[in-house]
Amino acid sequence: MKTVTLVDKTFGLSHPESEILAAIDKIAEEMQRDLHDKKPIFLVVLNGAYMFASDLMKRLEFTAQLQFIKLSSYTGTERSQDIKELIGLTEEVKGRTVCIVEDIVDSGATMQKLVAHIERLGADDIKVCTLLSKPNALKYPVKLDYVALEIPNDFIVGYGLDYYEYGRNLRDIYTLIP
Ligand code: IMP
Ligand code: MG
Repeated sequence: MKTVTLVDKTFGLSHPESEILAAIDKIAEEMQRDLHDKKPIFLVVLNGAYMFASDLMKRLEFTAQLQFIKLSSYTGTERSQDIKELIGLTEEVKGRTVCIVEDIVDSGATMQKLVAHIERLGADDIKVCTLLSKPNALKYPVKLDYVALEIPNDFIVGYGLDYYEYGRNLRDIYTLIP
């Protein structure tokens, strides 16, 4: 198995690029069908979703806006209840179809807060699109409209996802070897 060592941990190749791209083809077709006449605004959650968004968006052939957003729910080391800051959202979302593009939904905490935040801004319809979902880790139920890949409850890196900011540039996905 191909492995990669980042800082103090070793990861084994689990999802080659070809598998990731085939999964993205599938959800892009679904989105094309559902959203082509909605003039949606896509909100790409940085940093992890950057590579996914790049491959996803070029497969969509309809009118859409795209913004990159960043959120922080931490004040120092204390996790707060609400999103403290949402950076990068400058377009009006009131009355619109909003599609959130995430790298991974793990416990669902981040996504639940983000959806609630966008709801409060008055979006008409909110779709959630994630490259990866860990169904066995979900603690805060969120409706996931488009999921490219479902994975076990393991820590992964690559294709945008990081371990201490390393590994984001890997074209394949690797899973932590315990
Ligand atoms: P949640 O709020 O628990 O759903 O966590 C979501 C965030 O945790 C993601 O946006 C990632 O930044 C990070 N995360 C969760 N699982 C992984 C993983 O396996 N590898 C890298 N980052 C992860
Ligand atoms: Mg993230």
